[in-house]
Amino acid sequence: MLPELQPLITVERIQQKVNELGDQISNDYKNKNLLCVAILKGAIPFFADLIQAIQLPLETDFICVSSYGNDTKSSGVAKMVLDLGHSAEAKDILLIEDIVDTGLTINYVLENLKTKKPASLKVVTLLLKPGSLKNDVTVDYVGFEIGNDFVVGYGLDYAEKYRNLPYVAILPKELI
Ligand code: IMP
Ligand code: MG
Repeated sequence: MLPELQPLITVERIQQKVNELGDQISNDYKNKNLLCVAILKGAIPFFADLIQAIQLPLETDFICVSSYGNDTKSSGVAKMVLDLGHSAEAKDILLIEDIVDTGLTINYVLENLKTKKPASLKVVTLLLKPGSLKNDVTVDYVGFEIGNDFVVGYGLDYAEKYRNLPYVAILPKELI
């Protein structure tokens, strides 16, 4: 059985935030060439819900970067595991991420996507950790700012587990 963890962010709060972000993005991207790019694998549940909350025609694509390994601390090195499947030239890319911590991953992906000549490039993250402040990371849309605890659920994993929890919870020490 899956453990029942104390939610830090409940299913209801996630749903409400996703709808708010969807409305905001729908307003900002009218008459644009929206391409939603999910960063695999953690962003999948957020991506799936968010694109359905955007009331505009859009395209989707995926990118896979690995940086964490099986630890709760960033390895400090990002590696591209899977690149976009289609051309992003002249598209308005909205990069969809589960969590920005140090910002290393997002900055690495942004540098890569810039070389594909998009018309514009923005970032939406469900969660933002304080570490990002130290590194001057620019994120255009943020769901929730959280503390420094390691969280799991709604796509976020610890050693590839807990992605299927429908809420976000702090990973209890006894599970590490
Ligand atoms: P950054 O490169 O330090 O910004 O870390 C971003 C990546 O680390 C995210 O895409 C996540 O995969 C992972 N990550 C950072 N913090 C957490 C967390 O609290 N729980 C699960 N994964 C995390
Ligand atoms: Mg991860």
